[in-house]
Amino acid sequence: ELHGSVTIIVLGASGDLAKKKTYPALFGLFRSGFLPEKTHIIGYARTKMAHEDYIARVTQYIKVPNDETKQLLEEFKQITSYQAGLYDDDASWQALDACVSSSEDQRKIGAGKRHRVFYMALPPSVFVPVAKGLKKNVYVQQGLNRLVVEKPFGKDTQSSNELGRDLSALFKENEIYRIDHYLGKEMVKNVMMVRFANIFFNQIWDRKYIDNVQITFKETIGTEGRGGYFDQFGVIRDVMQNHLLQVLSLIAMERPISTESEAIRDEKVKVLKCIPPIVLEDALLGQYVGANGKPGYLEDDTLTNKQSRTPTFAALTLWIQNERWEGVPFIMKAGKALNDAKVEVRIQFRNVAGSLYKGSPRNELVLRVQPREAVYVKFNNKQPGLSYQTIQSDLDLTYDNRYANLDIPDAYSSLLLDVLKGDHSNFVRNDELEAAWKIFTPLLHTIDNPDTKVPITTYPYGSRGPAECDQFIKRYGYDRSDENYVWPVQSLA
Ligand code: BG6
Repeated sequence: ELHGSVTIIVLGASGDLAKKKTYPALFGLFRSGFLPEKTHIIGYARTKMAHEDYIARVTQYIKVPNDETKQLLEEFKQITSYQAGLYDDDASWQALDACVSSSEDQRKIGAGKRHRVFYMALPPSVFVPVAKGLKKNVYVQQGLNRLVVEKPFGKDTQSSNELGRDLSALFKENEIYRIDHYLGKEMVKNVMMVRFANIFFNQIWDRKYIDNVQITFKETIGTEGRGGYFDQFGVIRDVMQNHLLQVLSLIAMERPISTESEAIRDEKVKVLKCIPPIVLEDALLGQYVGANGKPGYLEDDTLTNKQSRTPTFAALTLWIQNERWEGVPFIMKAGKALNDAKVEVRIQFRNVAGSLYKGSPRNELVLRVQPREAVYVKFNNKQPGLSYQTIQSDLDLTYDNRYANLDIPDAYSSLLLDVLKGDHSNFVRNDELEAAWKIFTPLLHTIDNPDTKVPITTYPYGSRGPAECDQFIKRYGYDRSDENYVWPVQSLA
């Protein structure tokens, strides 16, 4: 815990991430009483803004459902202020330092307790100059310093390592918090509990019982308006190398020796190191085209390269070469502009051996990350009544049915609280990042190379994705044996 008082400095306060995520998350913590007493938040960016404009900008995405929240928002506005300045200019940083110090004086914060959290909601081009300016001019000796950074952490192993080197020359690893916001999601935080606190899952969590694992990310929106950014990255860098790989490592890692953050991160690094680089044969790529009045990827105005071959959909199979997982495919699928918005992990178990109930569908354990968090197991049961048929049913823990007054915090609130507590468990360690890039870099370089012309299929906006995808997952053993099974539609109680 931070004993003392904290100043949270949001660098890039005029940008999208700040107004959409950082400030609403800070308000979420404030509202639930989780910001330490006497916290002050200072926004910093290049744009010159009057105080009112700053307040209007950073609070525009905050939801105000009732009068009580409205009142709290007014109080929240009192603890924040804005300072404009450049990103590569010592005088600007010194002015920021003076501003933070005078706020600390006003709050009567004693020596040794003047903690500063630097939240970089910035484009990657200024990560290093900003970190340098902060270290030289705003870093405190009279308290703790924490630096929060968010992707993109480079574009491949080399650029990521360079960034890592530059940052670690300035801030110590235990001062750096690399955000992967998927680690702040409720169901992702639940993975270790499901695995290690339940004897029946814990014992069957390996190649002997598990046939294949799928991690699926589907979004209904395309890249409209964001095409310029997206085109430099593509769906693999945007969500797979980071978010989905984090989920995979929690599913696949060995049991950590404790729940201490380095113990967890050690195991994540180890399992990532057992994954060889993804090969082209294990990849299916797609790009969406216009349909039903929606524009295709290449029709986006913000896209400059109208011949772009950047994937907006990918299915990739990863293999883990260790005793637990050899031969078990981990299939990741991610796509934009699809028919559905959901993120889930689907673990399909092997067929039951012996002939008693031959042909029964396979068990599956599904962790639904979003929307509507749920853990459910597809399960064979006797058809109730006089029949001796087996039917596929489910053991269902859908959160909003099971837990009263469910109030799941936003991922960013959860992670910011971890930063304040100094808990690194849900942040990406430097060596973990490198191990993650090594799995993806060769494939990404092949795709990026204009001479290789890696095949990329198209799919209509709003469809299930490339038609080849069903065949792709079948190839790795996924068995959709009960075609009649449908997840029952439940009314909200
Ligand atoms: C971001 C990606 O990291 O994650 C976006 O850049 C993506 O393209 C987003 O839409 C998904 O996050 P969430 O929390 O909406 O699932």
